[in-house]
Amino acid sequence: MTGGSDPSDVFTLPGKAAVVTGAASGIGRETAVVLAEAGAAVVLADVDAAGLAATAEAVRSRGGRADVVPTDVTDAAQVTALAERAVAEHGRIDVWANVAGVIRSAPVVDTSEETLDLIIGVNLKGTYFGCQAAARVMTAQGSGAIVNVASAGADMPAPGISAYALTKAAVLMLTRTLAVEVGPAGVRVNSVAPGFIDTPMVQGYWTAPDGTVDEDARTRTIGNRAAQAPLGVIGEPRDIALAILYLASDAARFVTGQTIRPNGGVVMPWRPGVAGARRSRARRRCR
Ligand SMILES: NC(=O)c1ccc[n+]([C@@H]2O[C@H](COP(=O)([O-])OP(=O)(O)OC[C@H]3O[C@@H](n4cnc5c(N)ncnc54)[C@H](O)[C@@H]3O)[C@@H](O)[C@H]2O)c1
Repeated sequence: MTGGSDPSDVFTLPGKAAVVTGAASGIGRETAVVLAEAGAAVVLADVDAAGLAATAEAVRSRGGRADVVPTDVTDAAQVTALAERAVAEHGRIDVWANVAGVIRSAPVVDTSEETLDLIIGVNLKGTYFGCQAAARVMTAQGSGAIVNVASAGADMPAPGISAYALTKAAVLMLTRTLAVEVGPAGVRVNSVAPGFIDTPMVQGYWTAPDGTVDEDARTRTIGNRAAQAPLGVIGEPRDIALAILYLASDAARFVTGQTIRPNGGVVMPWRPGVAGARRSRARRRCR
């Protein structure tokens, strides 16, 4: 129960077991570190073996427990095996964060079937398989929290991201549908929809295949993205990891089927006309 309880207790995960996909890089790596810092033993899944080893080292160097399970989330059998390994190690799964994702940019008319299959395979089917595997274990044990990573692209159309955006919009509906199905069994399902976060996924915008960084492109891209947000900044992986921790923890025990949008304010339901009128009134009052 959270009533009267200490915030420093409910925002932690002592003795919990957490599976994190996409754990080899960026937001997934930081999520693994943050969940471990909050007390969870983490099970790390990704296709990138070297990245997984680096994340495991980051967790262990902070005194946490990490098990590495190389997993391609597009393969349902591998995701089932991941859940089985987590249960074998820990006897249960308390948290499952579906973070693995890929992006490719092209206009609709130029998007190949191969690209479409890749993005749907990782972002949509991978998240779906993760939800299935987690929900089967969690409904049987009568508790658990699933956190899916969507994107600001789920809400906001932009040229060139149709395939990516449609998978992320689907993740929001998967989250709500599954929340309705498994809520009665004591399992919560929520999403985090990040804005622009400086990770290897977006570093491709300014990094050549040989690793050369185009500093002008970097400054321009980050500046443009920051300028789109009311807070005037882009985010860091930890901004998302902390939102995932909240949704995974007992602090969010009354929260399910929801989406948190850590995005600097770049996407929100608002009516600019109304806000503008309020600003004018506020300015008049300040005179
Ligand atoms: N970086 C951003 O600006 C941003 C914004 C919104 C949403 N997101 C989402 O956040 C999540 C994490 O992205 P990131 O920015 O940390 O990117 P990233 O590229 O740093 O990490 C993505 C990870 O997913 C892994 N992955 C890819 N295909 C996989 C597969 N088939 N099976 C298992 N793992 C696989 C990669 O190996 C990588 O480690 C993604 O779902 C992404 O769509 C990112």
